[in-house]
Amino acid sequence: MKSKAAVLHEVGKPWAIEEVEVKEPQANQVLIRYVAAGLCHSDMHLMTGDLPVEMPYIGGHEGAGVIEAVGPGVSRVAVGDHVVCAFIPSCGHCRWCANGMQSLCDTGATILAGHFPDGSYAFQFNGRDTGAMCMLGTFSQYATIHETSCVKIDDDLPLEVAVLCGCGVPTGWGSAVKAGNVQVGDTVVVFGVGGIGANAVQGASLAGATNIIAVDPKANKREFAEELGATHSAADGAAAGELARELTMGVGADVAIITVDVATEEVVSEAAAAIRKAGMIVLTGLAHPEALTVHLSGTDVTLMRKQIKGSLFGDCNPTEDIKKMLALYRSGKLKLDELITRQYKLEEINQGYDDLEAGENIRGVIIHAH
Ligand SMILES: NC(=O)c1ccc[n+]([C@@H]2O[C@H](COP(=O)([O-])OP(=O)(O)OC[C@H]3O[C@@H](n4cnc5c(N)ncnc54)[C@H](O)[C@@H]3O)[C@@H](O)[C@H]2O)c1
Ligand SMILES: [Zn+2]
Ligand SMILES: [Zn+2]
Repeated sequence: MKSKAAVLHEVGKPWAIEEVEVKEPQANQVLIRYVAAGLCHSDMHLMTGDLPVEMPYIGGHEGAGVIEAVGPGVSRVAVGDHVVCAFIPSCGHCRWCANGMQSLCDTGATILAGHFPDGSYAFQFNGRDTGAMCMLGTFSQYATIHETSCVKIDDDLPLEVAVLCGCGVPTGWGSAVKAGNVQVGDTVVVFGVGGIGANAVQGASLAGATNIIAVDPKANKREFAEELGATHSAADGAAAGELARELTMGVGADVAIITVDVATEEVVSEAAAAIRKAGMIVLTGLAHPEALTVHLSGTDVTLMRKQIKGSLFGDCNPTEDIKKMLALYRSGKLKLDELITRQYKLEEINQGYDDLEAGENIRGVIIHAH
């Protein structure tokens, strides 16, 4: 079938709205009508070349929608189901899934190449197979995706809001609660308050942190973090480190979470300086794969027993944690509506990314027309 989608043709160029062809769902695949798609910074990395992919390429990895058709053998979802798409699939039985590490599922190996693990593609553009971000391509009205990317949610939850649980919420919340293992009474520094960092602040707050220092050069972001539970804020990482020590009688922060748009050596070093002995840095923000962003004194790391940990999807397990976060939303403990700064039409996607770059959005969300 035909679908309208935002396609990238070249690094440094805006998204182009194109007509693409969506293939029929094959075994264990489903056809989804996307209702909403979040504008995460990871798709911006495609635009800048920080995440190199073969173009043309269909964007979007934060999505929620309704199952329209199922291929042979599909058992996880049925036609009519409302689903949130996890940006990484979970097969349920590889070594990583079996050990509660679904965000490392082996079937996620091709999420950037944008085709299924067997090498087949869901989309064609101009008669040629075309990759789609995270095997989802949520910037398309329709897509064929694998059933293991889908998490069924209750019908009464608004898909326009639940969509944030496809990337931003689990990645941020989990960076604090799971990867960072934030404990009651902890002091936590969150570097960068965007769609991910805002949820790291919420996660740290729900985990019972005493002090949450939100760092962002943008005043609007710092103010918003304080509305979400940050107890303090700072305009730069050095000031945040000083604040962390002041608040802990010189000890330093228990956990520093890096959720800046583009991770740099500077910010990783600031995080290392902010944490206490045996404290932890959680590195969630991305940079170009060849950029060496971790330059620390190994001796400081050793003698102070500091830890540094990369985190993918907030170390969450999509099939369990997406439902858990939506239950927290239902109970009023996790704010989701407030995270959506603005809704856009698909045709307004470049405006959405301009707004993200200008620091105006926590999350912009595309609402698809059909
Ligand atoms: N590891 C994962 O699983 C995963 C998943 C999704 C996104 N990401 C990555 O997380 C990062 C954040 O994504 P986002 O959508 O929240 O981005 P965003 O653009 O919404 O937010 C980034 C924020 O960082 C702030 N910032 C920039 N430089 C800073 C600095 N030196 N100190 C403090 N703050 C600074 C910006 O002002 C902005 O508010 C991106 O690199 C994205 O690719 C990682
Ligand atoms: Zn994302
Ligand atoms: Zn798996």
